[in-house]
Amino acid sequence: MDRLEAGWRQHVPAFLNAVSTVGAFGHELSRTRRELNELRELHEAATTNASRGLEDVRTELAQEVRTELAQSGESMRADLRSFVQRADGSIEKLWERIEFVRREIMFEMAYGGAATKRSDAKPAGRIINQPLIDEQRRAGHVRLNIGCGHIPLDGYINVDMRDLPGVDIVADVADIPVEPRSINEIFSAHLMEHFPQEEVRRRLLPYWRDLLVEGGTFRAIVPDGEAMLAGAAAGTYAFEDFREVLFGAQDYEGDFHFNMFTPASLSTLLQEAGFRDVVVPVKGRPNGKCFEFEIQAVRA
Ligand SMILES: C[S@@+](CC[C@H](N)C(=O)[O-])C[C@H]1O[C@@H](n2cnc3c(N)ncnc32)[C@H](O)[C@@H]1O
Repeated sequence: MDRLEAGWRQHVPAFLNAVSTVGAFGHELSRTRRELNELRELHEAATTNASRGLEDVRTELAQEVRTELAQSGESMRADLRSFVQRADGSIEKLWERIEFVRREIMFEMAYGGAATKRSDAKPAGRIINQPLIDEQRRAGHVRLNIGCGHIPLDGYINVDMRDLPGVDIVADVADIPVEPRSINEIFSAHLMEHFPQEEVRRRLLPYWRDLLVEGGTFRAIVPDGEAMLAGAAAGTYAFEDFREVLFGAQDYEGDFHFNMFTPASLSTLLQEAGFRDVVVPVKGRPNGKCFEFEIQAVRA
């Protein structure tokens, strides 16, 4: 019994200790279980949130892509529309440019540097009637009648490339031996149609303008293309007459026609060359085989 009691006494503290440890262990165990539960709930919530978030992101992305596609589609359509419009304009401009370059090349070939060395280049001008020129200079009123032919005019210095009676200066009308800005009036009758359009436009009109003093007058009489066409169309103007005026009588060099004007077309050429106050006092006037108009303008 004593031994039993002694043994019991010996083991009671350990037993009591063990019993108290079991309680603490149980307590610890339930705390751990609670924490585990909390963790599981957190995990579940996180997983749910994550998958919902992913779904939201996917929906948002899809919406953005759709919007982006719609916008870029619209802007591509707009780009395409404006490209087509621009292309239309550019093609037109390109043609204009090509036509411009073609005319430049043709003009250079015909009248450019090389052309001045052509065998048909006119000799330098020759003054025959210097006293008349001096007299007009003194009077401060120098007047040229260029391409006078057989019809020299009183009160004018008559110029022609042919040395005909009454001619005061034998010269090419594109190279008259007078100073720029020294002439008060330039007159011509049935001369301008003897030159191709580009030569009139680019060389002759600017050259004649440069010979005139500021405010100087340019006057010309030319066949009236408008009146003759109307007459030919109405059957009141003979084809043979029309043909001859169109191409010239062709009797000698310088008697060929290369151009035809209307009051409107020559007015435009004069304005382009730097003339102002263009007026057409006479139109459709019969003269021999042709109808003619008169035009005058002032050096701007
Ligand atoms: C049809 S006649 C006109 C003559 C006159 N003015 C008249 O009203 O009947 C043309 C004249 O221009 C002259 N002519 C043509 N080309 C010329 C040029 N490059 N330089 C000088 N005279 C030119 C010709 O010699 C010709 O006498």
